[in-house]
Amino acid sequence: MPDRYAVFGNPILHSQSPRIHALFAVQTGQDMRYAALLAPVDGFAAAVAAFVRDGGKGANVTVPFKEEAFRLATRLTSRAQAAGAVNTLSFADNTISGDNTDGAGLVTELKANLGCALLGKRILLLGAGGAARGVILPLLQEQPAALVIANRTEEKAVRLAREFSGNTQLMPEARGFAQLDGQAFDLVINATSTGLSDTALPLPPQLFAPGALAYEMVYGRATPFMQQARTAGARVADGLGMLVEQAAEAFFIWRGVRPATGPVLAVLRG
Ligand code: ATR
Repeated sequence: MPDRYAVFGNPILHSQSPRIHALFAVQTGQDMRYAALLAPVDGFAAAVAAFVRDGGKGANVTVPFKEEAFRLATRLTSRAQAAGAVNTLSFADNTISGDNTDGAGLVTELKANLGCALLGKRILLLGAGGAARGVILPLLQEQPAALVIANRTEEKAVRLAREFSGNTQLMPEARGFAQLDGQAFDLVINATSTGLSDTALPLPPQLFAPGALAYEMVYGRATPFMQQARTAGARVADGLGMLVEQAAEAFFIWRGVRPATGPVLAVLRG
């Protein structure tokens, strides 16, 4: 019997994860199966328990269960602890190990795939929800010159920045959108959910420094943020690369083998 893995979410129908992991498995010769499993909104823990009873070895977790997976895990990595959310579970010896590979996936995508150095750069993170929280520590660890968190509800950005003060030498700064006037950044990451609702953020046009990269965490659609950034002359990327890289990091945790992501990304884009 091949080892079994799954991604849990709600909804889950359009998840790309089964395809990505199937491509990784073929490429690395790993004998495994990976399925997309819909868990009821109030039935995540029970769905995971049933999967473990059936011999499941590991799982990815997506919206809306990442915080619940964090609470379910009996052991957490430091990056999962910092993120307050878990996207990768491993099951062995009655232990549920929780990790979060989203931030590492984003950093690899930025540095290795998009050639965007982070050291000494000015980074703007838009949003202060779960998606933003998950990537703050890995970004800080890259030693940018500044990490500014901007959010519609400024108080949430302030709380988040405070929470990550003291993690590294750099203190994140917090702003409301109105306080972005006159500032420019080398990298602007959209971690708000506005890409899903096709809402434009009130971003001043000078926000993107010459040669800046605009990174949209949402994938598979041209979002208002991507259009704004393109109009302002920035280089633009969507979140598909981050998705593939976080998956590669999860695959490595489970199988001890690091798949090549370039060919998989090419298949998905094709
Ligand atoms: P996720 O897990 O995707 O981060 P979330 O925790 O609900 O989801 O956070 C959504 C983020 O998108 C928040 O930063 C939210 O801003 P608020 O904290 O002010 O709610 C942001 N967001 C959602 N819709 C928005 C909109 N129309 N304009 C600006 N920001 C928006």
